[in-house]
Amino acid sequence: MIAPLDASKVQINKTKSPSKPKSNNELEFGKTFTDHMLTVEWTEKNGWGTPEIKPYGNLSLDPSCSVFHYGFELFEGLKAYRTPDNQITMFRPDKNMERLNKSAARICLPTVNGEEVIKLMGKLIEQDKYLVPEGQGYALYLRPTMIGTTPALGVSAPDRALLFVIASPVGPYYKTGFKAVRLEATDYATRAWPGGCGDKKLGANYAPCVLPQKQAAERGYQQNLWLFGPEKYITEVGTMNVFFVFKDSKTGKKELVTAPLDGTILEGVTRDSILSLAREKLSSDEWTISERYFSITEVAEKAAKGELVEAFGAGTAAVVSPIKEIGWGEKDIHVPLQPGKQSGALTEDIAKWIADIQYGKEKRGNWSRV
Ligand code: COI
Repeated sequence: MIAPLDASKVQINKTKSPSKPKSNNELEFGKTFTDHMLTVEWTEKNGWGTPEIKPYGNLSLDPSCSVFHYGFELFEGLKAYRTPDNQITMFRPDKNMERLNKSAARICLPTVNGEEVIKLMGKLIEQDKYLVPEGQGYALYLRPTMIGTTPALGVSAPDRALLFVIASPVGPYYKTGFKAVRLEATDYATRAWPGGCGDKKLGANYAPCVLPQKQAAERGYQQNLWLFGPEKYITEVGTMNVFFVFKDSKTGKKELVTAPLDGTILEGVTRDSILSLAREKLSSDEWTISERYFSITEVAEKAAKGELVEAFGAGTAAVVSPIKEIGWGEKDIHVPLQPGKQSGALTEDIAKWIADIQYGKEKRGNWSRV
């Protein structure tokens, strides 16, 4: 019989040496992990095995496993927050499960019943709840991951897989905190392309982007602003989606714009949350919210006319990351910041709208899952 994934079957093996929570100022993004991890094996023949929550530790895998040779790997990233009434809530985990399944389908790994994985992540958090940090900017970052584990070198769909979830107490993604960054507009390397898999959260999309990032860093830029095609469309920034704000100097109308989900753009949960909140909270008399193609040339032209108002990256890890400068050709395009601050006004508002929901100050539908 092919067994479905069943969270109620979980076996829990607790650590004998629980760790002490670190203080917030010791937390660096993804450097330390909680005491337990979740693992579930899958085989084509038998389906999903028994989910296990066990002490955090090494995996033991045959060196011929498909993950090591052909990149059968996908991951997700989501956060759980400690609210003022001491509940722990995951932010929109259903969206991560939807995306996990799209990534899995693309690289022939098994799809999951997302609800069962959410329940299992809940049980994992329950084990390690004393390690979930408290305070704005702090959270438990969850990293669901799936790998192909077929021990064979033939290039084919894995008939074995391992789903695992690890968890890391985190502070702000950038050591500098909420500080505007300088980007290098990058057209000599391409992050994603039509017909590719840039909209999926596959490890294979990330490793090749690190060299251009190092090269940009040598020139004094923290991240790449990924351009695409002869039109030099703006697609993403670093590992995040990207938003720009323009203001028409004739009509005074403002536009919040991000690239459309055309298969080359990661379907970011933060991106989706920002678009929903902006469509709801910003008056349509004053604002247009657009998912459309826009290029670095358009940004440079608008900047020259004083119509570039702000720009920021958006992702789970950093939430929003304001941008202050974009190196393009011989010049730097300057993005205005509010006087004495590290972001534009809308960027600041959006960070607050999202934090209020994540930290439980504001309730919003099913976005927070206890
Ligand atoms: C995010 O912005 O949440 C990311 O995907 C970054 C992650 C790869 C560390």
